[in-house]
Amino acid sequence: MRVLILGAGAGGGLPQWNCGCRNCNAARTGEIPSMTQSSIAVSADGEAWALINASPDLRGQLALHAPLYPKGLRGSGLHSVLVTNGDIDHVAGLLTLRESQAFDLFATPAIHDVLAANPVFTAMNPEFVTRKRIALDHEFALLPDLSARLFAVPGKVPLYLEGESVRTDLLGENTVGVELTANGRRGYYIPGCALVPDWLLDRIHGADLLMFDGTLWSDNEMIEAGLGKKTGRRMGHAPVSGEGGSLNAFDEAALGRRIYVHMNNSNPLTDPRSAQTALAGASGWDIGHDGMEITL
Ligand code: MLT
Ligand code: MN
Ligand code: ZN
Repeated sequence: MRVLILGAGAGGGLPQWNCGCRNCNAARTGEIPSMTQSSIAVSADGEAWALINASPDLRGQLALHAPLYPKGLRGSGLHSVLVTNGDIDHVAGLLTLRESQAFDLFATPAIHDVLAANPVFTAMNPEFVTRKRIALDHEFALLPDLSARLFAVPGKVPLYLEGESVRTDLLGENTVGVELTANGRRGYYIPGCALVPDWLLDRIHGADLLMFDGTLWSDNEMIEAGLGKKTGRRMGHAPVSGEGGSLNAFDEAALGRRIYVHMNNSNPLTDPRSAQTALAGASGWDIGHDGMEITL
């Protein structure tokens, strides 16, 4: 199985257009690497690829990766697209895929309903794009030789559908993790997860790869930096460090590689020179970056 991290950043990316924080400014000068928004591509044979999450940066991401280029006059290495929630950083790129190109679009029924309620997505011509409604905990062929299973992880509805009161611990079709299996290898992609329940350890035990929500280093990071009013948990993202954080939550699970993805620009893990990056490394975590390739 091959995995390409197309974008390791969270919504907004690094630098974010309207952010003058230290990391965003360091990314502007090239002092630290930039990060485009949250997306990976996965393949069993290196020929046919599935896109998981379609970020607003998709056009630039596809232009950088030769395996995804068209083989002939028209075409694409992308045969399937899967979205794990309805957030803008995961669905806005679907509009980039509007040029009469055939692919299957996989998501839970709830997320398909969100897309169907927004007519702008009919830009993906239904003559070419088949919308596949995937039930939770049901194995399906994401590609002919690559199986996937969607499972609920704690989360919330997309930001633009939040009402007066918001539950961030919903377990349903709005926020899912993805299990990927091919050639006897097993990996997980979980870019959004509001808390790390014990059952998640049992589920991923023995996997070759875990790519997990690394949005914020600490729950209060955005508030303390004066960048926002919400905690990470309120945004549907368990912090890396602190009580209930993901840093050591998987220590008891037998795992091959563990890699953080979906890093917010406020996160010190986006700076390769930070003490937090060193600490995560000492705890067995790699920090995802744009263009990172993993072969299992
Ligand atoms: C998130 O991961 O919390 C979302 O991407 C936020 C957003 O939609 O901007
Ligand atoms: Mn996001
Ligand atoms: Zn910033």
